[in-house]
Amino acid sequence: GAESQRFYITDRLVRDWWPRRRGGAHKGNFGRVLVIAGSRGMSGAAVLAAQAAARSGAGLVTLGVPAGIHDIAEAKLTEVMTFPLPENERGTFSCSALDEIQKRARSSDILVLGPGLGANNDTAALVKELLLKINTPCVLDADGLNVMVGKTELFKLVKAPLVLTPHPGEMSRLTGNNTRQIQDARLETAAGKAADWQCILVLKGAGTVVAGPDGTLFINGTGNPGMASGGTGDVLAGLIGGLIAQGMTPLHAAAAGAYLHGLAGDAAATERGMAGLLASDLLEQLPDVLKKFE
Ligand code: APR
Ligand code: MG
Repeated sequence: GAESQRFYITDRLVRDWWPRRRGGAHKGNFGRVLVIAGSRGMSGAAVLAAQAAARSGAGLVTLGVPAGIHDIAEAKLTEVMTFPLPENERGTFSCSALDEIQKRARSSDILVLGPGLGANNDTAALVKELLLKINTPCVLDADGLNVMVGKTELFKLVKAPLVLTPHPGEMSRLTGNNTRQIQDARLETAAGKAADWQCILVLKGAGTVVAGPDGTLFINGTGNPGMASGGTGDVLAGLIGGLIAQGMTPLHAAAAGAYLHGLAGDAAATERGMAGLLASDLLEQLPDVLKKFE
């Protein structure tokens, strides 16, 4: 409503939220991220999300992928640990991956779920069961959102904080409103659904809006159209997860993540232009972007 608070995300806000590193810190102080993502043909989405979590400063990042792409993910990743999970004939997770994911989620500070998952009955059942069973905060992205179309009443039943990161197309499918309606009322849509679904909502696209369940809104001014290319959203999901693992509140991590992700995109575009900008360039820029805040 009119009384809810609105903020533009600034350096100053992000600095206030920044997790401090004590001299005696060890990796256990910076949290454990579990990324569950990927499918045959979409190993890159899983790898990008996991690398972004690692680049964000998280202590330990583990990636679970369908068994058929495990060796590919393992070969691409150096710092991230990987493990294979049961898959179906389409090369996406099978429902029988549920138990192991639940077990691993219990010893993680954040679950990043969805990039490159593929949308089918198996992944839909898996995402739904996980959301209802876990007590670990979760960043739900991409096909993790697509499989929840028509089941959005479940979002408010999730026990731990839930961060949803839809682009306008995904938000259109989740709400049943068309993209035009979403884009014409970005602030109202984000705030309204964050309240309805009792979650943190990150409505992506130029001027990303981050809404909390109490109506608090953060508006992001960083980023550029060079970032409109495959995989940049996967980087955002991992980055937000990594910030949550380090102890930032999920709402602040979502807002700071959007801001830092845009700063990384702006730095990449300044150095090398927008046309050739790749999602992996954002990963390369992140250390210099984060340096300003520590
Ligand atoms: N200005 C600022 N930021 C932008 C702009 C822009 N003009 N265009 C895109 N971005 C940012 C968004 O805010 C978001 O953070 O780039 C990111 C794009 O994320 P996604 O739309 O999720 O794109 P991505 O995931 O890389 O690729 C699309 O993934 O979500 C699925 O259905 C989607 O299969 C598709 C694929
Ligand atoms: Mg995406």
